[in-house]
Order: sequence, then C-alpha cells, then structure tokens
Amino acid sequence: MNLSDLEFYQAQIEEGLNNYLPTTSAVPERLHEAMRYSVCGGGKRLRGILLLLSCEVADGHWQGALPAAAAIEMIHAYSLIHDDLPCMDDDELRRGKPTNHRVYGEATALLAGDALLTQAIITMLVQAPVGLEKAYHQALQELVQASGTEGMIGGQVLDLAAEGKSLKLHELKEIYRRKTGALITAALRMGGIIAGATSDVLEALTVYGEALGLAFQITDDLLDLEAETVVLGKTVGSDLKNEKATYPGMVGIDQARLFATEEINRACLALVPLAEKGKVLRHLAEAVLHRNK
Ligand code: IPE
Ligand code: IPE
Ligand code: MG
Ligand code: MG
Ligand code: MG
Repeated sequence: MNLSDLEFYQAQIEEGLNNYLPTTSAVPERLHEAMRYSVCGGGKRLRGILLLLSCEVADGHWQGALPAAAAIEMIHAYSLIHDDLPCMDDDELRRGKPTNHRVYGEATALLAGDALLTQAIITMLVQAPVGLEKAYHQALQELVQASGTEGMIGGQVLDLAAEGKSLKLHELKEIYRRKTGALITAALRMGGIIAGATSDVLEALTVYGEALGLAFQITDDLLDLEAETVVLGKTVGSDLKNEKATYPGMVGIDQARLFATEEINRACLALVPLAEKGKVLRHLAEAVLHRNK
C-alpha cells in the first residue's frame, strides 16, 4: 500500500476543507487566498486520513468525522506555514510550491497561520454533526492540547533551541513526541472519540499513534537527507543548513532507519487487539516507513 492508495479519503478531506475555509471573495480576500494557498490541493493528508480511518476502525462512519479531519489539516497547515518562516526553518519550498511567506509576505503568512488555527476551532464547534456535539467537544480538547505548549508548539520551541546542540537521545525523542507525535496521536484519538470507541480501542489507537508519530518524524529526517527536492516538494538539506538535532544526525542513517522500523513494529503490535479491523492502519504504518515524500 502507498499513501496515495487512500485517495478516496484524500478527496473527501479536500472537499471538506474547501467547504469549511472562508471564501476568497470575502474580505480580507488576500488573507483567505493565503490560507487556501497552503491548505488546498497539496499534502498527503496523513493526519486527516488517520482521523477518518480510526473512526472507522472504532465502528464509526467517516462522514461524521470529516469536519474534524478538515480541522486537524488546518492546524497542520498552520504549523507548516510558521515552520517555514525565516525566523524558524527559513524554507522556500513546501508541497512543491514557494512557501507562503515567499508569495504573500511574512505578515500575511503569520496571520494566515493564526487564522487557520482559529478556523480549525470554529470548524470543530460549528460543523459538528447533529448528535456528535459532545464527542466533538472532547475531540476539540484533544486537538488543542496536542497543538499547544504540551504538544506541537512546545516541540517547535525545543526544536529551535536544540539547533547546533548535541542532545541526549531521550531529549530528542521528547522533541519529536511533541512537535510531530502529539498531533498524529490526536488524529487517532479524535477519530476514536467521535466513533464512541471503548477505552481499550482508544488505548490501542494511542499507542499506535505515538509510535507512528516518532517513526514519521525520523523518516521525515531521512528524506531531508536522501530524497530528491522535486519528489519531496521541499528543499532537501534544510536540517543540515539549520544544524538541526535529528536522529540521522545523532546516530547515523542506518541506525535511524532501524529506530523507525522498530517504532513501526511497535505501532503494528499495538493493533493486535483490533484484529482484522486494524489491517488498514497496519498497512498505513508500513507505507509511512517506505514513503518517498
Ligand atoms: C511535514 O508533515 C511536517 C512534519 C511533521 C514532519 P507532512 O509530511 O505530513 O506534510 P504534508 O502535509 O504531507 O505536506
Ligand atoms: C516540523 O518538522 C514539525 C512541525 C510541527 C511543522 P520539520 O521542520 O522537520 O518539518 P518539515 O521538514 O519542514 O516539513
Ligand atoms: Mg521545523
Ligand atoms: Mg521545517
Ligand atoms: Mg523535516
């Protein structure tokens, strides 16, 4: 399985995003254009897909989880816009296009990111399907917690502070858990919560998400070293340029790949209690390990 085999879900998420983002004919048009520039028509939609799949794995209907999948992709896109800013990773290419600040300028890029964060929250509150309001409230709590100082933002701060430093492996792991793992784990938990999953299923999804999130960031680091810019859609070598603390930088490429493989095995092991239902998530985990973008 490739991540692109999930194009049915990708297309649904695309449509959801288009429906829940402000239109470019509303004032301020340029801000809305900048938001759509970074969100629409690009990206693997991994977090949104995980959310829809985990909802189905927990016996829910993906349709009921679609607003949440769109919301998490908005948060993710916001994190990427800010991550690329000159004051952070200073990157010029994202999803095969010039980064948001290169097209719209830093001020608009900053505000488009902020607006995507609030739009995600509005989407969770306003678009919750009838009967799922309570579950959406709980899912929103997961989303904002994973996005904040405990999760993504905290991880991004630690990531910047670690530039040029040599860390202990457990410190690096903690950065990855927060900057990347938290949102991926939240995607899985949100899908489970919306489906009304039992605590056992939710626990399995959580452990799977934590391991997958770590493996995902390690493979991101490997791609930054080994992929081709045209395939990746991001300029390779960004981490070296910024003297980032990374797994391959710390333990070498082969050992980093081994760590990623171990985490994928751990992710798959967590799915055992889900039996046949966990199959799609197992295949997805393997696809993450072998991805080329
Ligand atoms: C990139 O995430 C940022 C990381 C957390 C490594 P993705 O690789 O999921 O980016 P898109 O959404 O596919 O562009
Ligand atoms: C980003 O990690 C994690 C985020 C929370 C955005 P990276 O800085 O390695 O992501 P890319 O490689 O720019 O996509
Ligand atoms: Mg970064
Ligand atoms: Mg970056
Ligand atoms: Mg990277």
